[in-house]
Amino acid sequence: MDQKTFIISYQTFHNLNALNQEDQSLCNLAEKALDSSYSPYSKFRVGTAIQLANGIVITGSNQENVAYPSGLCAERVALFTAGATHPNVVIEKMAITARSEDFEIARPIASCGACLQVMAEFEQRQKKEIEVLFYCLNGQIINAKGIKNLLPFAFVEDRLVK
Ligand code: THU
Repeated sequence: MDQKTFIISYQTFHNLNALNQEDQSLCNLAEKALDSSYSPYSKFRVGTAIQLANGIVITGSNQENVAYPSGLCAERVALFTAGATHPNVVIEKMAITARSEDFEIARPIASCGACLQVMAEFEQRQKKEIEVLFYCLNGQIINAKGIKNLLPFAFVEDRLVK
């Protein structure tokens, strides 16, 4: 038996003012994207803003459906929009935030495993790490550089490609 350990690393910031101007703007756009969330079932809005290497920012929000699993998270709405509209442009970073109609979100939410898996594939495809900012409207921000720090056991099976 071998005991193995992953070391993951990330930074935290106390509020948006502690971020550089570019990151603050991206967070503000993620926050704006909350308005387009369609979340009548969970009443939990999630907004995402993706910074592309060509300067364009793609935003997305969670889109729910009465057949619950047919809905999609904000991150994948934005990531797949980036893939569909700017297929060869590198994703540099993404900011993700949330707002609930029922309670106050005191700490940043992290993306679900399915969204992290999609981020991992984008990284693999573009051969460049993606920086992720999770933040909450009331303060704290988490900044992880590279999906390996969020999903160390991502499924990246090279043998599936002939
Ligand atoms: N949600 C996201 O948009 N992103 C995540 O990473 C986790 C969850 C959405 C899905 C659903 O519309 C609502 O949040 C409650 O789960």
